[in-house]
Amino acid sequence: MRVILLGPPGAGKGTQVSKLTVAINTPSVSSGDLFRQHQKDQTDIGIQAQNYMKRGLLVPDDLTIKMVMEWIDSYTDSDGFLLDGFPRTYPQAVALDEALRQNNEGIDRVLNLKVGIDELINRLSGRIICRNCQRSYHLTYAPPISPGVCNECEGELYEREDDNRDAVQKRLEVYFDETEPLINYYSQKGLLTEISGTGSIEVVAASILDGLVNSTSK
Ligand code: AP5
Repeated sequence: MRVILLGPPGAGKGTQVSKLTVAINTPSVSSGDLFRQHQKDQTDIGIQAQNYMKRGLLVPDDLTIKMVMEWIDSYTDSDGFLLDGFPRTYPQAVALDEALRQNNEGIDRVLNLKVGIDELINRLSGRIICRNCQRSYHLTYAPPISPGVCNECEGELYEREDDNRDAVQKRLEVYFDETEPLINYYSQKGLLTEISGTGSIEVVAASILDGLVNSTSK
């Protein structure tokens, strides 16, 4: 099954994808995590992306499409994937459709996580993530067992460079301008399922699984 998780910054895409990938045994990728890994490794992609990411801007489409397509191609043995944070522009969505169509494949479902702006800002302002495995936590809503230490791999937890107030504001603006129109794009294709992203992490995870089961049983 090929699934896209759409939603604004802080909606919980990464949190939910890490649960869903286990629940339905399907590989997943976050374009933001891929970029952060490239930055950590100081690759050309990472160096080019850093300048955009720290300002809350989107990385140019050509660089992003190439990076994510390489990840998808590396999973040819699997009959599906979960995408978090890609596509988030119209050219990215078209490039993904065309690449899949060449293999007689397509997206099966797009889940749109809906969360109000005040809650998004609360979530992003308390977020800390693991420098090693990139799992995210929240100082109030989802704290780690030991402060500053990842539950999964014992990596160091830190605040993302783009979770400051100015960058969050810019990321939200960019989301409404460039990514929100994709809701309509996928809705017109009959692929969209709206999910309420408010409530506890477990409640949202259950809604996502329900949404997937109901949409595939129709
Ligand atoms: P990316 O890393 O994708 O950031 P984003 O889309 O802004 O999304 P976030 O990671 O901020 O939020 P999330 O929805 O995953 O929330 P999370 O689960 O962490 O992208 C970063 C940058 O990379 C972009 O700005 C851009 O520069 C570049 N980039 C990436 N993809 C690109 C693309 N396709 N094209 C161009 N550029 C691209 O949750 C947030 C917090 O809330 C956490 O603390 C979590 O613990 C907490 N939380 C989650 N769910 C709940 C809940 N139900 N209740 C309470 N708290 C919750």
